[in-house]
Formats: sequence, C-alpha cells, structure tokens
Amino acid sequence: MDIIRNPKEFQERCWNWRCAGLNTVLVPSMGFFHEGHLRLMDAARQRAGSAGKAMVSLFVNPTQFGPSEDLAAYPRDFERDRDLAESRGVDVLFAPEPEAMYAPDAGTWVEVPSLSTGLCGVSRPIHFRGVATVVSKLLLLAMPRAAIFGQKDWQQLAVIRRMVRDLNIPVEIVGHPIVREADGLALSSRNVYLTPEERRLAPEIHAGLEQAREAVQAGEASAERIVAAFATHLAKKIPAARIDYAQIVHPDSLAPLECVDGPALMVVAVFLGKARLIDNMLLRT
Ligand code: PAJ
Repeated sequence: MDIIRNPKEFQERCWNWRCAGLNTVLVPSMGFFHEGHLRLMDAARQRAGSAGKAMVSLFVNPTQFGPSEDLAAYPRDFERDRDLAESRGVDVLFAPEPEAMYAPDAGTWVEVPSLSTGLCGVSRPIHFRGVATVVSKLLLLAMPRAAIFGQKDWQQLAVIRRMVRDLNIPVEIVGHPIVREADGLALSSRNVYLTPEERRLAPEIHAGLEQAREAVQAGEASAERIVAAFATHLAKKIPAARIDYAQIVHPDSLAPLECVDGPALMVVAVFLGKARLIDNMLLRT
C-alpha cells in the first residue's frame, strides 16, 4: 500500500489510472478506523476488482468542525489506521496535511443549503458546507469511478448525492448499510467518548428505532406518535440521554413527514455524556 501526502501527487496517480481505464474506488474518511470504515474499504476493494484500485483518504477536515466542536480532540492514530487499511487490501492511502489541502486564503465553498439546514445542520450550521467542499476536492483529486459513503451519516450522503448531481461530477456515489455492534449500537469513532455505563445503555437508541419500524409495520402512520414513543422509550431506558432531534423525513429530500404512507426515514441525534450519537432507520421503502 502506498501512502501519499501530497495532493498533486495523488491527483496525478489517480488520473493516470482512470485514463488508463482502471476501475478506481474511493472511500473518504477522517481516520480512527473501526469496523464500519473497514467494511467500506472491503466494499471498495470488491468493487474495484483485482485489476482496479481501492483508495482511502484520511483527512480530519477542519472546515466541517464548528468553533466549539471536537476538532483538536478528534481521535487519531495514524500507524494503526495505516496497518488496518493495508490489511484490507487498500492500494493507496491519501493522508494530506491541512495546509496542503487549504491555501491560507482559501475561500471557495460548495453549499447544498436545501439539505444542510435541518437535522444535524441546526446544531452544526457550517458542517455540511465543510463536508461538501472537502468531498468535492477529494473527488476532483481522485476522480474515481465510484466513491463509497456510509448510510449512518444519511444526511451527509444525501448532501453529497445532490452535490454530485447538481455539479455533474462524474463519480458514482454508493451508499453502504450501517455497520453495527452485535448489540445494535452503530459503530462510530465518537463511541470512544462513552463511559462503560453509557456504552451499555447506548444500544437503546437503535432499539427505539427498531420499535418505530415495528410500529409502522403494525400500521402506525402518525409521525408525531412514532417520535413521541421514541422519546418515551429513551427517557425510560437512558434517563441521562438528551434528544438533539428525532424526526421522520423523506429519505431523499429530507423533508419532514407527518404521515408515514410512503418512503420514510427516522433520523435521530442523541447527546449521551460527552458524545453526540446519530442513527437512522428506514421505516418504509
Ligand atoms: P468519517 O466519520 O471518518 O466516516 C467515513 C465514512 O465511514 C463515512 O462515509 C461514514 O458514513 C462511514 N461510516 C462511519 N460509521 C459507519 C457505520 N457504523 N456504518 C457504515 N458506515 C459508517 O464522514 C466522514 O468521515 C467525513 O465527513 C468525510 C465524508 C470523510 C468528509 O470529511
């Protein structure tokens, strides 16, 4: 596995591959890999095939963190990440320094306001502008055939799909199912912030979403009642948790739904101790 730190060098390597007709697949990440990231890498390896190239970017992107967020404290372990990526058959790990990615006077942004202001955008107003900008930069550097993103960050995936459509970026965006612990907790780099007791209770978030899906299967259609039942479940099972948001939205437009009578996604963000955990579940397809 090659490690490339220089964006220009990465771009030359990737464009040469794509021009040569190779199947190239990129997994953008901020590192501190867990099994969720590694499964995205497996999917990239498989999609690229033995003749193609699986690429991973590891960049803790400063522009997607607000001033009071955890940029400095964001967990990092380059050596471990490098070994894990190599063990999953990744061909190139692109790990630039922030100064190499952003000129001191960089001021060009990619924004998808229609999908960025609700849900996580309420408490993280500049987050998706940072994500959309860095993902455009990564796609322009790597120009892969496909890029893989996790459905755990559903809003992020929706923003990226819309951006790629609106800007005619010639990359197929692939969504990968949420990878969970055996007890249901969605894997996240931020799970390391949980105390053992919080970690024990955290799967109740997923359990609450499962109950919502079962309620819909049993005929419940009122978004208000489903969300209220989720809040009651959480208050009972994890009294220390605080719901940032719990909503039922259309999976593509993220528009809030009152009635679950077509495609519907339940999305939640929950503060638990030092962590803010997000999760989601399709209630109807
Ligand atoms: P990061 O949080 O490192 O996540 C990298 C990718 O892994 C994202 O596509 C995310 O959705 C996916 N992922 C994380 N946990 C997952 C899980 N439990 N199951 C499935 N997929 C999971 O998301 C980012 O980085 C950044 O915002 C980035 C897109 C790289 C832009 O900086």
